[in-house]
Amino acid sequence: MPEKRLLFKNIDVPGIDGIEVYEQHGGYQSLRKAVLDMTPDAVLQEVMASNLRGRGGAGFPTGRKWSFLPKDGRTRYLVCNGDESEPGTCKDQEIIYRIPHLLIEGVVTSAYAIGAEDAFIYLRGEFKTGYAVLERAIAEARAKGYVGDNVLGSGRRVEITLYLGAGAYICGEETALLESLEGKRGNPRLKPPFPATAGLYSMPTVVNNVETLSAVVPIIQMGGAEYAKLGTERSAGTKLFSVSGNVRRPGNYEVELGKVTLRELLYDIAGGPPEGHEFKAVIPGGSSVPFLTPDKFDTPLDYESLQAAGTMLGSGGVIVLDDRACIVGSTLRLMEFYRHESCGKCTPCREGTMWLNQVLQRLESGEGRPGDLETLADLCSNIDGQTFCPLGDAAIGALASGLKLFHDEYEAHITKGGCPMGEVVR
Ligand SMILES: Cc1cc2nc3c(=O)[nH]c(=O)nc-3n(C[C@H](O)[C@H](O)[C@H](O)COP(=O)(O)O)c2cc1C
Ligand code: SF4
Repeated sequence: MPEKRLLFKNIDVPGIDGIEVYEQHGGYQSLRKAVLDMTPDAVLQEVMASNLRGRGGAGFPTGRKWSFLPKDGRTRYLVCNGDESEPGTCKDQEIIYRIPHLLIEGVVTSAYAIGAEDAFIYLRGEFKTGYAVLERAIAEARAKGYVGDNVLGSGRRVEITLYLGAGAYICGEETALLESLEGKRGNPRLKPPFPATAGLYSMPTVVNNVETLSAVVPIIQMGGAEYAKLGTERSAGTKLFSVSGNVRRPGNYEVELGKVTLRELLYDIAGGPPEGHEFKAVIPGGSSVPFLTPDKFDTPLDYESLQAAGTMLGSGGVIVLDDRACIVGSTLRLMEFYRHESCGKCTPCREGTMWLNQVLQRLESGEGRPGDLETLADLCSNIDGQTFCPLGDAAIGALASGLKLFHDEYEAHITKGGCPMGEVVR
C-alpha cells in the first residue's frame, strides 16, 4: 500500500528510456499481441471492457470515444494530447521523458485499433527535451519495425508525427489543439461537430491524453476485464497523481482509483506537511477545480467521490497549500495565469478574467473596498457556463470555491487593508 504501479512499473529501471531495456522488460509485447493476434475491433473491445476513462481531465470513457468514429471509409487520425499545461500537472511529462516507448507502444496499438495510419503527438512548446527524447525513441521503434509502413510485418501502416506547440494553455483543449496542429492560431472550435466526425483536416479523429494512451498497453497485456477489476466500478484502473506544493515528498504517484484517500496520498505517500506546519487546503485536480479543506481529506480518489465532495479529479494535479499560504494570493496567482492564457475569443472569459484579476490584485495590495467580494462572486457567476469553451469555467473553479470556504480571509484583506498572513506563500 498504497502505490499501485502499472504504467510506472519499470520507470526506475536504468536505461528504460532505450528500446533494448524496454524490450527486456516486456516492452512491445502488447503491440505484438494486438497486431499479430487480434483484429482492430478486438482491441477496441478490450479497451471498452477495461472501463478506461480519459486521463486528460474530463474522464470520458475511452472505448466509447473510439466507437463514435463513423464507419464511412474516410481517413482517420489519432492525436495524442501531450500539451500538459495545467498548473500542478506533470505526469505526462514523466511518461514522455522517462518511458517514451510506453507512450509509443500505446499510440501505435491505439492507432491500429481505430484504423488510423497516421498518429500525431502534440507536445507543449516547453517540452523541447521531451521532443528530442521521443524523436530518438520513435527512430528506435521504426528501426525495429514497431512504427512505419508495415508494423511487425502485419501489413498495417502506422506512422507517428511529432509536433511542438508554441506554449499556449488553450492548445490543450482538443479543438484548439487541432487548429494549432493544422498550422492555424489555436482557438477552440464550435462543437458539434465533435472531432470524432470532423477533427484533424475535417476527418474523423480521436484525441486522447498521453496517460490514457499509455494505459492501453497494460490493458492489452492483462485483458480489459482484469484491468476493470482495479479501482472501482465507475472509476477503473490506476491513475497518476502529481503532488506539488507544501508536502515533504512532491512527485508523481500511481494509485488504484478509489482505493486511496486524499489523506493517504498526502500523508502516507507524499510524506505529510513540512515540519511545523499543517495542511490548509488542496486543489486536487489541476488548477481548474474547487478547493478541498482538511475535513474532506478522507475522500477516496476517484471521479465520483471527488465530485460528491464538491470538486473534481480533473487531470490529477494535486496542489497542496499549508497554513502559511494566503488563499487570496493563491487565487490571484491562478487568475493571472487564466487571464494571460484566455484566447480572447469570447467576452465573458476575456473580460471576466481581466476584471477578476484586477479586483484580486486590489485586495492583495491593500486597496480592497466594500463590495469587492460581491463583485468577485458576481463576475464568477457571469462566467460560469457562459463561455465558448471550458477554459472560462476552469478559470473560476478555485476562486468561486475559495470565496465560500475562506470568506473570512477575503474579508480580512479588506478590513485589515492588505494580506493578513505576514510572509506570504503563494
Ligand atoms: C482549457 C483546456 C485545457 C486542456 N488541456 C489539456 C491538456 O493539456 N492535456 C490533455 O490531455 N487534455 C487537456 N484538455 C482536455 C482535452 O480537451 C480533451 O478532453 C482530452 O485531451 C481528451 O483526452 P482523454 O479522453 O484521453 O482525456 C484541456 C481542456 C481544456 C478545456
Ligand atoms: S472561454 Fe472563450 S476566450 Fe476563454 S479560452 Fe475559451 S474561447 Fe477563448
